[in-house]
Amino acid sequence: MLRKEQNDLLTLTGPGTPMGQMFRSYWIPALLAEELPENECPPVRVKLLSERLLAFRDTQGRYGLIDEFCAHRGVSLWFGRNEQCGLRCPYHGWKYDVTGQCIDVPSEPAESGFGQKIKLKSYPLIERGGVLWTYMGPPEKQPPLPEWEFATVPAEQSYMSKRFQESNWLQAMEGGIDSSHVSFLHSGNLNTDPLFKGAKGNEYNLRDMKPHFEVVESPGGLYIGARRNAENGNYYWRITPWVMPNFTMVPPRADHPVHGHFWVPIDDENCWAWSFDYHPARPLMPTERKAMQEGHGIHCAVLLGTYRPRANKDNDYLMDRAAQKAGITYSGVIGIANQDFSLQESMGPIIDRSKENLVSTDNGIIMARHRLMRAAKALADKGVAPPGVDPVHQRVRSVSIVLPPDQAFKDAAKEQLVAKPGVAHATV
Ligand code: FES
Ligand SMILES: [Fe+2]
Repeated sequence: MLRKEQNDLLTLTGPGTPMGQMFRSYWIPALLAEELPENECPPVRVKLLSERLLAFRDTQGRYGLIDEFCAHRGVSLWFGRNEQCGLRCPYHGWKYDVTGQCIDVPSEPAESGFGQKIKLKSYPLIERGGVLWTYMGPPEKQPPLPEWEFATVPAEQSYMSKRFQESNWLQAMEGGIDSSHVSFLHSGNLNTDPLFKGAKGNEYNLRDMKPHFEVVESPGGLYIGARRNAENGNYYWRITPWVMPNFTMVPPRADHPVHGHFWVPIDDENCWAWSFDYHPARPLMPTERKAMQEGHGIHCAVLLGTYRPRANKDNDYLMDRAAQKAGITYSGVIGIANQDFSLQESMGPIIDRSKENLVSTDNGIIMARHRLMRAAKALADKGVAPPGVDPVHQRVRSVSIVLPPDQAFKDAAKEQLVAKPGVAHATV
């Protein structure tokens, strides 16, 4: 349970808010590289942390993320002409480069130097691992480039998608660290989804509906361990790393690729759910890639030409009551991603956390909230850089493992929780 001011602190990320300042300490995913496929391609509107921006790729392949609106009289530059190393406003022809610098004001004599004094807000935009990342904080505090393992493996080993979610980022992220819902909400998918099925771990998951949770702090956030009974008194552990503020990873199943999410605020009532899948030690198989493209596993089928899920609020998420009754799906909604966001959106745009009744399986969520609040305050009050900015904190992996009962998961799985280039993940 949270007081209103605590809920506001955690959920509001616009300019000037403490959590907004914290998000502006990190490189965050802004677009898929496929959204700007070639030089001088159409610009793309990007709303992030409640700021309306425009991304474009110029004649020389440079990426820019600038204020969406022209400095002259506020026209959206989405209508602009992407030509000769800049974006030209279609209203009166003012032109901007990828840094937001105005480089031409056709109505004014060039020698007046008028344009030099005009510069739009802009942020760096760089490509890594098929994602265009931006950093929206003060330039002097720009951290090293992100080193998440999915973004550093060869391209044939990874797949990335994103989908629009109609809820605040935090309730989406909290679903990512809430391992206890898997035995219920996703129970119909563990043995049928092509990207999950066939794992020994699925049996433990489905047999033991009362996991015991142990949450420990990690350098960048938390390790959330969910313990279920295995054979001979041993324990099956599923360990979810959460790295501040918005990176989560799902514990793997058998030799399937391993996956996770970024939950990125668009504004206070909408977010992007970024979903990555990769195998640290081998290329993805064509069947796996196809399944991901079709929306299996943690990915999601979207409406053609958009990133909005096909199952959405307007069609009641394609609810199938007969499948719910027959136990084919637990909630009646088909697909793991759809199951998650249908329920998270049903909470309303920003859930009122003063009305919750939390239980022991919510410990990961409780600790994550406290760590976020602590870090946001330390940054706002004392300028302390939050955990997760350091690339060392980003080299994490999720783990699923069977351990003897006397071993603490964080010690026994210490090695496996660190990303090691080319070495396969620890999985059951
Ligand atoms: S509004 Fe853009 S040039 Fe006039
Ligand atoms: Fe889920």
